[in-house]
Amino acid sequence: MRTKMVAGNWKMNKTLQEGVALATELKETVKNPSCAVVIGTPFIHLATVAGLLKDSPIEVAAENCADKASGAYTGEVSAAMVASTGATYCILGHSERRAYYHETYDILREKVLLALENNLKPIFCIGEVREEREAGRQNEVVKAQLEGSVFNLTPEQWSCITLAYEPVWAIGTGLTATPAQAQEMHAYIRSLIAQKYGNEAADNTTILYGGSCNAKNAAELFANPDVDGGLIGGASLKAPDFCTIIAAR
Ligand code: PGA
Repeated sequence: MRTKMVAGNWKMNKTLQEGVALATELKETVKNPSCAVVIGTPFIHLATVAGLLKDSPIEVAAENCADKASGAYTGEVSAAMVASTGATYCILGHSERRAYYHETYDILREKVLLALENNLKPIFCIGEVREEREAGRQNEVVKAQLEGSVFNLTPEQWSCITLAYEPVWAIGTGLTATPAQAQEMHAYIRSLIAQKYGNEAADNTTILYGGSCNAKNAAELFANPDVDGGLIGGASLKAPDFCTIIAAR
């Protein structure tokens, strides 16, 4: 059976002190979750938060890593550095990174490989923008994103991948995909994985939904057979909301 998961993505929110306070609150509340729980924090929080959560079921993710292993890349943070903090996951391919920081399929392919080489489990994000959905092109967009950056992986590498389907038009907009839209796309993604890696690998791949998933709508999204959990932005910034979403999974 594939892993069910609720993952938070704090994005560029919370000072270190605020992040520690939130992680502490989560640690006190999330003692025995029925799914995997991950929080994605800014780089500078990682070591502190990972240390704080060492004896907790909550795991920690970076929100990005460099596309180079090491060297003269001022301001970048490598996958090895992320792993050295105690973080175990790395969110990659988020639509904000693709749109604002021009992360191409090739760049993301490098990042995924470096994350894997350093024993970080990628949470790889895919999803179409509004114009693509309106033109009925969502399937072709998502397929190209997978083929461009992760379908080069070996079956063994693939087994470390978590996917997050995040329709860009739903991120931070309050516009959630309907449960039927989420299920339809997740089933399509799983069929692509089956074609590439076989039915067993497809069955074992965790596919999260992201995009205005919150304490109110999480349960009906998670009720779909191919929706294995959520990648949560805004609603992961408040412990009670995030805990309600975890309980819905
Ligand atoms: P949101 O963000 O929940 O605030 O829409 C989700 C994401 O971008 O991962």
